[in-house]
Amino acid sequence: MYKLISLITVFFIYNMSNTVSAHNHFPITTDSKLMIERGKIAYNNNCVSCHMINLAGAEDWKGVDEDGHRKAPPLNGTGHTWHHDDKTLHAIIKYGLAKLVKNYEGKMIGFEDKLSDKEIDSILAYLKSFWPIEKYEYQIQMSN
Ligand code: HEC
Repeated sequence: MYKLISLITVFFIYNMSNTVSAHNHFPITTDSKLMIERGKIAYNNNCVSCHMINLAGAEDWKGVDEDGHRKAPPLNGTGHTWHHDDKTLHAIIKYGLAKLVKNYEGKMIGFEDKLSDKEIDSILAYLKSFWPIEKYEYQIQMSN
């Protein structure tokens, strides 16, 4: 079930993500320490309550919560976040899955009113700084 939702969402987001502004520079790398620092601050202000301080996501994240919604997945490279390219990840953070996928009720609301495109990209750099090198490189290739 979880896998099926992932596949469907990737398909829809792929189409939606073309709306992400043209001046984003993908792939996002971990080359800039400043970007990672900025991303960390933005992450701690906006994401940590659900995705946790170590990016490990909610406990038992593959299950659903008491009202049947998905729990926050890990963003640290142990889940499947690294299977999505940068455009897709940017769109998920900007709009939230619930807005991107028809009939999907997600609890993560998009951050388009709170974070600039640049801040979202900085968060991506911060997330990637946690990923094992082989996942990082694989995802960079996908995002080219
Ligand atoms: C209210 C809790 C909550 C907050 C706050 C939140 N998220 Fe999420 N996030 C979720 C849930 C739940 C999902 C699973 C998809 C869904 O149901 O919407 C998710 C999914 C994601 C995904 C997709 C991961 C994957 O492996 O498919 C990314 C990336 C993500 N969140 C990043 C962020 C970032 C970055 C922030 C802060 C700017 C953030 N989230 C804030 C709950 C949250």
